[in-house]
Amino acid sequence: MNFRSLLVILLILPLISIANPNPPAQLKVTNLKTEYLVNPLGLDVRTPRLGWIIEVAAKSVYAQKQAAYQVLVASAPDKLTEAKADIWNSGKTSSNANAQIVYGGKSLTSGQKCFWTVRVWNQDDAATPWSPVAFWSMGLLEAKDWKAKWIGDQPDLVQKEYQAMLATYDPEKNKSFKNIKPVGPSSPMLRKAFNVRNNVKEAVLYVSALGYYEMGLNGQKVGNQWLTPEWTDYNQRVQYQTYDVTKSLKPGSNVLSSLLGDGWYLSMIGPTKWHEDYPRRGVYGNDRRLIAQLAITYADGSKELVVTDESWKINTKGFIVAADNFLGQKIDARNIPAHWQQVGFNDGSWSNVYADATVHKNLEAQKNEPIRIYKYLNPQTVKPLGDKYIVDFGQNLTGWTQLKIKGQKGDQIKIRHGEMLDDDGSLYTANLAAAIQEDEYILSGNDDVFEPYFTYHGFRYIEISGLKSLKNIETIRACALSSDPDEVGGFSCSNEKLNQLWSNILWTQRNNMTSVPTDCPQRDERMGWMGDAQVFCQNSMFNMDMAAFYTKWIKDIRDAQSERGTFPDIAPHANKPDIRFSNAPAWSDAGVIIPWRMYENYGDKELLRQHYDAMKKYIENIRRQNPDFLWLKDVGNQYGDWLNANTVIAEGYSKTRGEVPKEVFATAFYANSVRLFSKMARVLGNEKDAAEYEALFESIKKRFNSEYVNDSVKIKGHTQSAYALALNFELLPREKEASAFDHMLDCLKEYDYRISTGFVTTLMMMKELTKRGRNDIAYRLLESERMPSWLYSINQGATTIWERWDGYVKGRGFQDAGMNSFCHYSLGSVGEWMYRVILGINPDINDPAYKHFIIHPQPGGSITWAKGSYASINGLIGVDWKKEGSTFTLQVEIPVNSSATVILPTNQLGAIRMNGKGVSGDLLNLNHKAAGETALELGSGRYDFVID
Ligand code: BGC
Repeated sequence: MNFRSLLVILLILPLISIANPNPPAQLKVTNLKTEYLVNPLGLDVRTPRLGWIIEVAAKSVYAQKQAAYQVLVASAPDKLTEAKADIWNSGKTSSNANAQIVYGGKSLTSGQKCFWTVRVWNQDDAATPWSPVAFWSMGLLEAKDWKAKWIGDQPDLVQKEYQAMLATYDPEKNKSFKNIKPVGPSSPMLRKAFNVRNNVKEAVLYVSALGYYEMGLNGQKVGNQWLTPEWTDYNQRVQYQTYDVTKSLKPGSNVLSSLLGDGWYLSMIGPTKWHEDYPRRGVYGNDRRLIAQLAITYADGSKELVVTDESWKINTKGFIVAADNFLGQKIDARNIPAHWQQVGFNDGSWSNVYADATVHKNLEAQKNEPIRIYKYLNPQTVKPLGDKYIVDFGQNLTGWTQLKIKGQKGDQIKIRHGEMLDDDGSLYTANLAAAIQEDEYILSGNDDVFEPYFTYHGFRYIEISGLKSLKNIETIRACALSSDPDEVGGFSCSNEKLNQLWSNILWTQRNNMTSVPTDCPQRDERMGWMGDAQVFCQNSMFNMDMAAFYTKWIKDIRDAQSERGTFPDIAPHANKPDIRFSNAPAWSDAGVIIPWRMYENYGDKELLRQHYDAMKKYIENIRRQNPDFLWLKDVGNQYGDWLNANTVIAEGYSKTRGEVPKEVFATAFYANSVRLFSKMARVLGNEKDAAEYEALFESIKKRFNSEYVNDSVKIKGHTQSAYALALNFELLPREKEASAFDHMLDCLKEYDYRISTGFVTTLMMMKELTKRGRNDIAYRLLESERMPSWLYSINQGATTIWERWDGYVKGRGFQDAGMNSFCHYSLGSVGEWMYRVILGINPDINDPAYKHFIIHPQPGGSITWAKGSYASINGLIGVDWKKEGSTFTLQVEIPVNSSATVILPTNQLGAIRMNGKGVSGDLLNLNHKAAGETALELGSGRYDFVID
């Protein structure tokens, strides 16, 4: 099409402006959530927060907003009418908020079930239909509601057995603890038979344990959760789970059964690796204990409780001979008593349990989505290696192997798990350190189905030994396990290797979500390292709905705050948080950075309120120790910009040149936390604090400049990371930014346009390159296949993100086995850049929770098309763009009750066709002045742009 014909078309097309109201019947309310969860059971938040999204049926409906809502809450679904709602009728409430709506009805009581529905009115005062019904139930709100006792086997058995094992072990000879095997005593089996009358209306089971539990009811596993209860600082609180078991009960005899394992409570856990108190098992306590309470309500209103107490039976000769998170587990299938979980089993020879009156725990309802098996993977290859077999599942994952097998009674099978193979095709396990992750099975002679109970592994490959013939195995598959919020992000583009990178990032996130955000899932760490988590936080939120997960984890952070005010480096923190692993810059700062992300992405002011004093105390401690504004004291382990160029073995990489000086790094993070805190104070309306901490930020900034920045704007150390940090945290006077950026480019050139930043500042550098007009270099780094680079690992077959750029180098082999995980998400934080720059999806901190957001795709590198989406808390955002010749097309979806600034790559309004028509000037955002771009302000709807 030539210019003249385009002009003619533009002139005859009527200019459109998207403002006309649309039929409200096209709107509907969906995705009802309570405290971020879908139909949660057992909440202990007394005034839960509600949220929903509004969907639109027709493509052609635009600019829809919520002007008011009405929530009904009732004790039964059929009471959800205005006349009958017996718990809460909010009435028609003028508000555009569709999340963080605080329940305002009658005060709620333990075990109460609440059904709810909502409708909204749009800007034209037309109402939607009532939404589908959702519900929540309350947990046990008072300690006195727990009538159950903590039960288990006799005290101290676990420690005795462990000490006996240690007595045979010479730590001097093997400092790495490499040869520790899982030790017992075995997992006890517990059971309780009880009777139920006819006409059960509802039965709710509340359960928790010190250690892991697995609960059964009449032979069926209760729920689909694994590794319960999850990891918290058990000295502060233990989460319990709530299950609706109404359908599993039957009139007459019933049986509750349970297995108990060590879990994080007793297992070896990362923090104990450096624990001063030997031995390293039983950090939180020594005895596995169960607490359970089954509340039955009959149709006639009468109630009955079945609780853990002295009447439960126990068999301490368990078939789970030993189990440990790091070490693996051993099962002797010959010892599984037939039908022990069923009604009619004779437990006459079992003992009575020990009821432990010494346990006093703060029981709290689980706040986050449980750990579930979310995917099964079949073997890609099974290859013999000597008398063993190597199985490749084609994907590095966290979970375990499930095996259906029939062999001779007493045959022993061993499965070892690893992430990589050695060059000779054998399993590489050197990087696991003490976490040997081996499972052993002794066959019963019948059909056996093996699956670990109380352990998990990080692996792609397994080695099976002891197998007489492959024919013995009926099925083998890997079960992928993680905390299980919804996946909310999507990404694909014309560069297949970037698609693999995106997939690797998501897998690495999944693999590191076993109730806390861990650094890695395989070696003997698996801890909630806070530096890694803050770097990856926004990426994690683009990938999955992390609101509930972080709500729980931020409390774990608070639990580990010391009296002095330090935040930990790892949460939960099993050592003494005031002594070790606390207050390392960029690690402890996660305690400020992640709450701010919760506000930006989910609008969570309540969390800011709850966490406010803790953050203030954290900052005040640093201020007290460092009255001179430079963060030099109380810096804990001062990891600095971890795994920077000095640790990379590559041509042109020296051992000293790449690292930003630690004092520069620390002070930059101090400034950033203070500034974020001041912004949070402002959000909460605390103007006095806001002003005070803004002033403190200015003082730190001033000192940062006078101490570390010279007259030619060179920052001490002159490293890529120093400039990335200073620019990203806005620590330099505006007029000096351009020079600093030039220095950063020089530092990139020095490394031949490769990365010398550590994992803390890599993403910052990518962002600054894009922001300051050198997107070409950002794309060059992203698409580079030369080590160190993201795609280098992809070319080596990586299916997850490696801890080190050079974790494995062809011809050279593996990096230092002492620290070489192939499943660390930190360097995967570049996924955030992929969402923000390739797709162009950006939250707007001034109107959080995607009430307003920015769509700004910035094509570059080899990429000719990209598409993706993000299911935000406010609804689905979609982007799909393509470059063909000189034509750029873009489809954008903006959810109802949101608006967006869409930034297009032309400064010619006339060159833009929107939905086949020209664009009215009243949609222009005149504040956007970037060269070569046009910004439009748009309401909800689906838009097609063509730019020639
Ligand atoms: C972990 C890291 C962590 C670091 C602290 C490592 O061992 O795996 O990811 O942040 O220690 O520097």
